[in-house]
Amino acid sequence: MNKLTIVGAGLVGEAAAQVIAREELCRELVLMDVQGELAQGKALDVWQAAVESGSDTRVSGGAKAEMLAGSEMVVITAGVPRKPGQSRQDVLSINLPILDGIMADIKQHAPAATVLVVSNPVDVLTYRAWSVSGLGRDKVFGQAGVLDTARMKCFIAEETGFSARDITALVLGGHGDSMVPLMRYCQIGSVPLSHFLSSEQIERIVERTRKGGGEILNLKKMGSACDAPGVAIAQMVDAIANRRNRILPAVAILEGEYGRKGIAMGVPCVLTEEGLARVIALPLDAQEQAMFDHSADQVARDIAEMEAL
Ligand code: 2OP
Repeated sequence: MNKLTIVGAGLVGEAAAQVIAREELCRELVLMDVQGELAQGKALDVWQAAVESGSDTRVSGGAKAEMLAGSEMVVITAGVPRKPGQSRQDVLSINLPILDGIMADIKQHAPAATVLVVSNPVDVLTYRAWSVSGLGRDKVFGQAGVLDTARMKCFIAEETGFSARDITALVLGGHGDSMVPLMRYCQIGSVPLSHFLSSEQIERIVERTRKGGGEILNLKKMGSACDAPGVAIAQMVDAIANRRNRILPAVAILEGEYGRKGIAMGVPCVLTEEGLARVIALPLDAQEQAMFDHSADQVARDIAEMEAL
C-alpha cells in the first residue's frame, strides 16, 4: 500500500501506527488529529521507533485535511473514549459530529479510499460512515471482532493452559454486551473447545469476553484499551495491504445475511486488496440465531437513536 492515514492521534491511533509502521504495511503513514502538533510529535516518535526496527515507512503528522489526499486507506480512531460506567453508545453524541466531519474530509480529499471505522460506538458509526460515503460496503467497514476474538483467545488460553497460537475463536454481533461468541466454532488445535471445558467454564469466558473492554476501562480508569485495538487494526490493514484473502470478523453492512438488512454488525468477512470482498453467512442454530437477533435489535435501536440526533 502506498499511503494510509489514521485520523485520531489518541492512544488507539498511536498504537495502530506503531504496528503499521514497524511492519511496513504502507510506504507513507499519516497521523492526523485536530491537535496538529500532538499528531506531529507522535508521528515523529512512531517513525523513529519504526526506523529502529528496520522499517522504511515514512510517518508524518498534522491537522490539515489535505493530508488525506492520495490515501488508499483511512482508519478512523478519532473521538472520545467512554469513561468507566459509560456504555459505548453514551459517547455517540460527541463522536457522531466528529465522524461526520472526517467523512466530509475523506469525500473531498480521498474519495476512493477504503475506510476502516474504529471509533465507538463502532457498529453505529460504521453504519453512518457507510451511509454518508455513497460507497459500497466493500469500502467502508469497522473493527471490533478481531479485538473481541483476541480477548476470547486470551481467556481460553488462561482457562486451559494451552498455547494461544492453537486457539481459534469466532465472535459475531454488536461490539458490546450483546456480542455473540460462537463457541461451536472455537477450537484448540482443531479439537472443539467443549472437549476441554465445561459449559460453566465456557459461559464464564463468554461473559468476560462480552465485558472485556469494560474490564480494562475500569482498571485503567483514565482510558480504554489501546494496545490490543492497535494490533487488531494492523491485522486488518495487513490483510488488505498484502492481499491476503483472510477471513476476519469485521463490522459489515448486512444485505440480508443472517436475516438482516441495513444494519452494521460483526460478521466473518473476507478481507483482501479491494477491501471487504464478501460476508460469510454461516448457518446458525436456533439459540445462536436468537442471540444474533437480540444483538441486531440492540444495534438497530442504537442506529435509530443516532438517526434521531
Ligand atoms: C474496547 O472494547 C475501546 O471498544 C474498545 O476496548
